[in-house]
Amino acid sequence: MTKSTKLPQKVKGLSGSIVIPGDKSISHRGVMFGSLANGTTEIKNFLTGEDCLSTIDCFRKMGVDITVTDDVVVVQGKGMDGLVEPSKILDVGNSGTTTRLMLGILAGSSFHSCIIGDDSIAKRPMNRVTAPLRMMGAEIDGRKEGGFTPLAVRGTKLQAIDYVSPVASAQVKSAVLLAGLNANGTTSVTEPAKSRDHTERMLRAFGCEVEESGLRVSIKGGQTLSATKIVVPGDISSAAFFLVAGAITPNSSITLKDVGMNPTRTGIIDILTGMGADLIVENERTVNFEPVADLTISTSDLKGIEISGEIIPRLIDEIPVIALLASQASGQTVIKDASELKVKETNRIDTVVNELSKLGVNIQSTDDGMVITGSATPLSGGQVSSYGDHRIGMMLAVASLIADGDLTLDDPDAIAVSYPTFFEHLKELSL
Ligand code: S3P
Repeated sequence: MTKSTKLPQKVKGLSGSIVIPGDKSISHRGVMFGSLANGTTEIKNFLTGEDCLSTIDCFRKMGVDITVTDDVVVVQGKGMDGLVEPSKILDVGNSGTTTRLMLGILAGSSFHSCIIGDDSIAKRPMNRVTAPLRMMGAEIDGRKEGGFTPLAVRGTKLQAIDYVSPVASAQVKSAVLLAGLNANGTTSVTEPAKSRDHTERMLRAFGCEVEESGLRVSIKGGQTLSATKIVVPGDISSAAFFLVAGAITPNSSITLKDVGMNPTRTGIIDILTGMGADLIVENERTVNFEPVADLTISTSDLKGIEISGEIIPRLIDEIPVIALLASQASGQTVIKDASELKVKETNRIDTVVNELSKLGVNIQSTDDGMVITGSATPLSGGQVSSYGDHRIGMMLAVASLIADGDLTLDDPDAIAVSYPTFFEHLKELSL
């Protein structure tokens, strides 16, 4: 493990184009649904970040043959009843998506299994998933009444539920829907606002019927999945770091290719546009079942904005880098309704405010968000930390591109969780 690294020094500008690596959410689901399907699933542009590798490792431990080459991941599906009892503990590493979606699959399995993860996972609330799964009959034990990992799951027959979720969370929605696939009857989940819908789209690509009506999604138990070919679009949450870098770095114009533009994920595009960014969306197309486009962003004059309400789930992972963006905009940016930030890989209200304050940004935390007062704020150098959170690490690396002093980042390896080639891409684009 690298303890700390010097971040790049202030650049003269950014120029060129990069292909954005595969979407993390879609890559996880490709392996999981491919494992449950009948037949062989091929996944192109799979994200080989550590989180998705944790998913592969867990499903291999349940008897699934998965091969990973540079070009393609091939999953030999076992069918809905084909997973086998893992003789080892399922280690999810840092991955909340692996933990929560897999719980939905394990709850209705025919075997016993144990889940463990890293120190960050052990602090993240799992009761948001274990509670509805228990309503379906799931038998899950763990620390603090099943609220935290390590968790033990005794697979059992499940009953459908009509669940009204208190949070807009795709991980909760997906866990319940996946459990619903194995339950008697039709399972529904209603959310307070729409979260990312990759599970719904991909289940359909695997031949399942999923019904949607407003904020309610329903799935009938007993359906089977048929293997398919998937091309994973670039992760807009990874592209976000370069969108912000291009907008705030003087003398810049960069193109990001093959970016996933699923409307449940494009809050960052709306915010950049609303703040006045010079952003061009081109070559819009649909790859498999997901919209994709190429994005060109150039140095921009930005103004502050209010970010609240239904847009929050559409940009929840982008808020750390949006806070940096806001520091370079004139006027105030207010981020509200974002308490979900407190239960991410770190408490991202605290980590963002701590680290950006160190660089001289005028930023205050609130109960459910933060307030940033910007105006091309000059950033100072210093010692900052990712706190083991990939998105905090990348946000700080983008800050270094415009910082006057040298920045040293503690715990930089966390970035490999979602973007192993991040520093190479940064170097490629730097003038
Ligand atoms: C994810 C859903 C989001 C997101 C996470 C990935 C997914 O979490 O923050 O990075 O793949 O379903 P929540 O569902 O908890 O909001």
